Amino acid sequence: MKMHLISGACGFVGRNMVKRLYRNTEDALFIIDDLSIGTHPSTWMEYSQSKMIGDLEVIGEDERIFFWKGDFRELLFNLRMNPRYIQDTYGLDFEKFTDVFHFAAIVGGRLKIEGDPMAVALDLSIDAEFFYWACQHKPARVLYPSSSAAYPMWPGVFLSWPERVPTLPGRPSN
Ligand SMILES: NC(=O)c1ccc[n+]([C@@H]2O[C@H](COP(=O)([O-])OP(=O)(O)OC[C@H]3O[C@@H](n4cnc5c(N)ncnc54)[C@H](O)[C@@H]3O)[C@@H](O)[C@H]2O)c1
Repeated sequence: MKMHLISGACGFVGRNMVKRLYRNTEDALFIIDDLSIGTHPSTWMEYSQSKMIGDLEVIGEDERIFFWKGDFRELLFNLRMNPRYIQDTYGLDFEKFTDVFHFAAIVGGRLKIEGDPMAVALDLSIDAEFFYWACQHKPARVLYPSSSAAYPMWPGVFLSWPERVPTLPGRPSN
């Protein structure tokens, strides 16, 4: 059986991906979220039963969803120390993750970048840990969305860049 990894699995993009993969494949899903923004799977998917293997929640009668609640960087650290950490700790039988979907992020758009640098640093640290691990683990495929922070704060601003920027409210007129 294939095992896919989905980080940020309980957020907006992640939970829709989890539901789709669960519905359209027979693959197992190892899903991760610290629930800082996302909500527990019981709030957004059919949730019949679950059992625990240590701190890992196994969801559904067919036991295809494995939910690890915590900071993704902590799991990545453990995986770097021991590439078979998940197999050894939880007794799961798979060789490597097939597809990896990386959605764990601090999302906030451009205003976040300009107003909350520590949140940006945290976001970058998640990505740094992730890609460091991915280069070692070499999953078959990685899906990593662009940041929504790439989009403009004010609709239309970048269509007429740079002429209109100085006229925006709250921006210096240099
Ligand atoms: N939603 C969009 O329209 C959109 C558009 C373009 C790109 N994206 C990108 O897609 C990704 C996901 O976006 P989203 O809208 O689902 O965001 P979201 O905030 O709904 O989901 C992110 C999830 O990551 C979790 N998370 C945060 N830090 C974590 C950590 N350290 N460890 C484990 N989990 C952690 C949060 O609890 C949350 O559930 C982001 O990179 C975002 O920039 C989203």
